[in-house]
Amino acid sequence: MITQATITPEAPVRNLAMDLVRVTEAAALASARWLGKGAKEDGDKAAVDAMRLGFNALDIKGVVIIGEGEKDEAPMLYNGEKVGMGTGLAVDIAVDPVEGTNLLATGRPNAISVVGAALSGTMYNPGPSFYMQKLVAPAPAADVIDLDAPVAVNLKNVAKALGKDVDDLVVFVLDKPRHQPLIKEIRSAGARIQLHTDGDVSGALMAVDPRSDVDLMMGTGGTPEGVIAACAIRGMGGQMLARLDPQSEKEKKSILDAGISLTEILSVEKLVSTDEVFFAATGISGGTFISGVRYEGGGAVTHSVAIRGRTGTIRYMEAFHNWDKLMKISTIAYD
Ligand code: FBP
Repeated sequence: MITQATITPEAPVRNLAMDLVRVTEAAALASARWLGKGAKEDGDKAAVDAMRLGFNALDIKGVVIIGEGEKDEAPMLYNGEKVGMGTGLAVDIAVDPVEGTNLLATGRPNAISVVGAALSGTMYNPGPSFYMQKLVAPAPAADVIDLDAPVAVNLKNVAKALGKDVDDLVVFVLDKPRHQPLIKEIRSAGARIQLHTDGDVSGALMAVDPRSDVDLMMGTGGTPEGVIAACAIRGMGGQMLARLDPQSEKEKKSILDAGISLTEILSVEKLVSTDEVFFAATGISGGTFISGVRYEGGGAVTHSVAIRGRTGTIRYMEAFHNWDKLMKISTIAYD
């Protein structure tokens, strides 16, 4: 029997995810104004500006490992940029101020603002790689997936681990021409499919979330999105197996020139090699994983999730933002 005496007591330590939620909330509040307006860049810029201000209030020594691209193309939150007050915990940072810029521009569901942070030196740096193949399954099926096995075998094994039949399963797949063979294989194995134009961070989180209708995610999406999803999966449980999957000769050559392996199978433990990892996301356009921003005249309501890797605590938060009070202190015109 475990008694109080046998537990090594540990004082509660800081949960950085709670601070990161304020950063993703700010980005979501600023960018949701661009919902359905057909202006991808404007929505993204609003989120980046708000996110950067949010980081400035955090006592961390952060370095952006996964950002908005290289310094010259991305004036803010670029790879290698230092964020935070420069004091406190040294962390690697992964950001996607708007994950699903097309979703935001077209007013479709599942655009979210996301941030991951992990102890300095523990986050996989994808270098010049843009795309990776991903296979994501929830905790009960974490040990039965195999990136090299045929699609039908993975479906059979996941279904068995979940106590379901293959035709009960729902697989999240990005609706891209490159996935036509994959879609065919999933259909002929008998599983069902949710096709989404964008947003495979939400897809990965839905795959590991026992409350969601999605059972697994398959296919190739962004490498940065893979590392970001890994930050959340370390806390939520489940597994993602991934491998770089360049979509052009140019991408392939730059990965090889950078000395990065094209064959290595990357698990969540390799993508983020510590339990000291924190994740926050806020819904922008609403969707199946988290609801979006609702403006209410005098304020707005946001929905977020904060996850701590070490404890596996997942907090869902609804926040009410009051323009009268907020606009007295904010330099960003959220109203
Ligand atoms: P953005 O937020 O950069 O627009 O990415 C959206 C997204 O759908 C990701 O979720 C996904 O990983 C990636 O794009 C897929 O890339 P592509 O649309 O080039 O196939």
